[in-house]
Amino acid sequence: MSQDSGLRNTSIVGLQWGDEGKGKFVDVLAAEHDVVVRFNGGANAGHTIVVEGERLAMHLMPSAVLNPNCELVIANGTVIDPEILVAEIDMVESRGLKLNGRLHLSSRAHVVLPWHALLDGAAEARLSNLGDAIGTTKRGIGPAYADKIGRSMAVRLGDLLDTAYLKAHLNKITPLRQEELRIAGNNETVGADDIANRLIALGERLKPFITDTTWLLHDRVREGRSILFEGANACLLDVDHGTYPFVTSSNSSALGISPGTGLPAKSLGKVVGVMKAYSTRVGGGPFPTELSDAIGDRIRERGREYGTTTGRPRRCGWIDLVAVRYAAMVCGVDALAITLLDVLSGFDELQICTAYQTPSGETIRRFPVDARDLEHCVPVYETHPGWVEEIDGCEKLSELPNACRSYLEILQNHLDLPVEFVSIGPDRKQTIRLTPSSACMNEACCTQA
Ligand code: GDP
Ligand code: IMO
Ligand code: MG
Repeated sequence: MSQDSGLRNTSIVGLQWGDEGKGKFVDVLAAEHDVVVRFNGGANAGHTIVVEGERLAMHLMPSAVLNPNCELVIANGTVIDPEILVAEIDMVESRGLKLNGRLHLSSRAHVVLPWHALLDGAAEARLSNLGDAIGTTKRGIGPAYADKIGRSMAVRLGDLLDTAYLKAHLNKITPLRQEELRIAGNNETVGADDIANRLIALGERLKPFITDTTWLLHDRVREGRSILFEGANACLLDVDHGTYPFVTSSNSSALGISPGTGLPAKSLGKVVGVMKAYSTRVGGGPFPTELSDAIGDRIRERGREYGTTTGRPRRCGWIDLVAVRYAAMVCGVDALAITLLDVLSGFDELQICTAYQTPSGETIRRFPVDARDLEHCVPVYETHPGWVEEIDGCEKLSELPNACRSYLEILQNHLDLPVEFVSIGPDRKQTIRLTPSSACMNEACCTQA
C-alpha cells in the first residue's frame, strides 16, 4: 500500500486557456522535487523555459529536464506522438543531458498515429467552412483521445514493443481509417506496412524508457520521494469543465492528475494555480475580456504572445476573475503564481473583470456552463491605475511600484487565495517568491524567500 498523503507533492495547473507559464514554474519548482510527471495532453502543449538567457521550448518532455536530479515521467493520461518525442529526446541528449534511467514513459499512454493529425486537420477544415472551427493545434489530439475512448482502433505505447501484435492490428484498422479519411475529404494513402515499420523503429528507440509508470510512481511514493505534477493545456480547456466544445480532449485541470497517473487523488499535494496578469486564448471559443484593439496588440507584442506550438498570434485581453475564480475552485487551488506581470508596465490604467452582465441585464459572478451563454456575457470591470516603471529587474516585492502591488492585492482578495509567486520575466531567476501569507502585499507581512 502506498503511504502517500501528498504532503510533499505539488500540482501545477493553468487557470486560464493555456500558456500561463506553467513550464517556467515546473522548472522553478523542480529543484524542490524528486519526480516530475506529465499527466495529460500531448504535443498540443508548448512549454517554454528560460535559464540564463537560453530558451527551451518543449511539447512532450517534462519541463524539469534541465534539473538533472529530477526523474521525468510521461504518464498514462497523455497521448504521445513518437516522432515528436524522439526528436525532443535527441535534442535533450545532444545538450549532454542524460535521460537513460531518468525518463520513464507509460506503456499505457496512447500513441498519436499519422492519421490522427490528418483527421484533425480534415475535421477543422470542414468546421471552418461552417464557421465553427475549434482552432485545434492539428496535432491529432482529439482523434487520438477519441480512439482511446473508442478502444478498438487505438495503439498504446507498449504495443510498439509487440511487433507481431502491432502489425496485425494495423493491418486490421488501416483500411477502415483509409475509408474514414476519404469520407473526411483527405485522399492521402496510409499504408499499414509503412506505418508499422516506422512505429517499430520508433518503439526500438523508446524501448529503454517504456515502463509501467503506475508502479514506478507508487514505488517512488513508498520511497518517500516528492512528486511535482505538470499540467498541460489548462482548466478552461478541460474537456469536462472547460468552455466546451472549445476545449482540448483531456482533463487538463487538476482533476486529470489521478486518472492520468494512477496515483490516488490525495497525492496531489499543494495545488499551485498559474495565471497570467491578463488573459490570452489561442483558437476559437468565447473570450469575454478579449481586446481587439491597440491595447490587445500592445499586450501581444510586449508579452510575445505567439503560440509555442503553432506560432499563431494569441488573442489577448484583460484579466477575467470570473473565469479564474471558477478554475481555481475546480482545481482546488491552494496558492497562485501570477505570471507576465512585467507585460502590464506602461498602461495608464488596467481593467479587472470581476463579474459579467448577461443579455437580460443580470450581473453574475458564476462562470456559465455553456459556451453559447459565455459568448453573450459582457465583462463588468473595475478600473485600476497602471504603473510606468519596467519591473523585470525587480528582486523583491518591495521593489515593485505601489500600483503593481495593489494590483496583486486585488487579485488575491477577489480570488481569496494567497499569491505565492510573482513572475516578472521568462527567466527562472525573474521570480519573486512570497511567504504564503494571504492578506496583503505589504512587504512588512510578506517577505521574499
Ligand atoms: P505554458 O504553456 O503555460 O508553459 O506557457 P508557454 O511557455 O506556452 O507561454 C508562456 C510564455 O511566456 C513563454 O514564452 C515564457 O518564456 C514566457 N514567460 C513566462 N513567464 C513570464 C513572465 O513573467 N514574463 C514574461 N515577459 N514572459 C514570461
Ligand atoms: P499549453 O500546455 C494554449 C487549445 C487550442 C485549441 C483547443 C483544442 O501550452 O498551455 P487541441 O489541439 O488540443 O485539440 O486544440 O485547445 N490548446 C491550447 N492553447 N495552450 C495549450 O497548451 C493548448 N493546448 C490546446 O489552441 O483552441
Ligand atoms: Mg504553452
